Amino acid sequence: MIEVKNLTKDYGTTRAIENVSFTVPTGQIMGFLGPNGAGKTTTMKIITGFMPPTEGQVLIDSLDAIDHSLEVRRKIGYLPENTPLYTDMDVVGYLTFVQRLRGIPQSEHSVRTRRMIELCGLGEVLKKDIGELSKGYRQRVGVAQAMIHDPEILILDEPTVGLDPNQIVEIRDLIKELGRAKTLILCTHILPEVDATCDRVLIVNRGKIVADGTPASLRAAASGHDRLTVEIKGPSDQIRSALEGLPGAARVARGDGADAEPLGAGCSRFVVESASGHDLRETVFAMVRDRQWILLEMHHEATRLEDVFRQLTVGADAQAAAGSTS
Ligand SMILES: Nc1ncnc2c1ncn2[C@@H]1O[C@H](COP(=O)(O)OP(=O)(O)O)[C@@H](O)[C@H]1O
Ligand SMILES: [Mg+2]
Repeated sequence: MIEVKNLTKDYGTTRAIENVSFTVPTGQIMGFLGPNGAGKTTTMKIITGFMPPTEGQVLIDSLDAIDHSLEVRRKIGYLPENTPLYTDMDVVGYLTFVQRLRGIPQSEHSVRTRRMIELCGLGEVLKKDIGELSKGYRQRVGVAQAMIHDPEILILDEPTVGLDPNQIVEIRDLIKELGRAKTLILCTHILPEVDATCDRVLIVNRGKIVADGTPASLRAAASGHDRLTVEIKGPSDQIRSALEGLPGAARVARGDGADAEPLGAGCSRFVVESASGHDLRETVFAMVRDRQWILLEMHHEATRLEDVFRQLTVGADAQAAAGSTS
């Protein structure tokens, strides 16, 4: 279990995080999500004992991360933001080197190396110099390096940055696989990453935690973002005011975005935002039927985690800015 208590970190006059507290129970895959500069890496460096906090404390299985730094490091595998790899070593040589650093008995080296090669899919590149590897393979070597001592806790800081879409899918699958047996913190500024892999998400913004929940509960808590796109054949102005008049419709806008399909003659497309909990599909269908218009398309989109994230980070910043000037 990871217990983070009231962490604050100042770099000179910059306060990177402020009074951050959370607990990650054993076995959880937690996403630590926030825009660049939010304080994710700083928090992870403190948890892993690479850096002391200005204030606060981290306990790993009830051990203080600073007082018991060696024991804590043994329990944690860490993939830092920029994977530090020795580019002139081959994969097997590097993994052996890491085990020597960690004081793992030599008799175990080849078994552990083999296990990591299998787990991280490194079979094809064992003898290659790390410098020759693609970014995706380097990232796998980074994960292997973090896991080789079989830690109970795994911390991955932006593991998919710089990877192509295929590599991203592969690393995500690997994370899910690893997460079955470990307590895992995944730091990222990329939303689909946490949606795809995490049981729980903490959202951080400007050094503070602004949300904590499952991806589903965060979506449910955000309001006014369920969207219904409709394409209707009939008089555009009348359609618009009829939609605006529907109970539960919070906002109606024209839906002819740049990437939208071209409309047929006499057709209009609108996007209706509803307050959360309001599913407008049946009402819209009945309204179109009663008016004897023709419903050509109806597409419902539930609140996305992306909206929640924007609301909590961009929205909050805008509010703070508005507050400071008034
Ligand atoms: N070594 C450092 N010295 C000074 N400021 C730093 C240092 N590392 C990070 N910061 C600042 O602390 C804040 C949080 O950074 P960081 O933890 O790296 O955020 P994230 O990982 O979420 O992008 C940022 O404002 C960043 O500029
Ligand atoms: Mg970072």
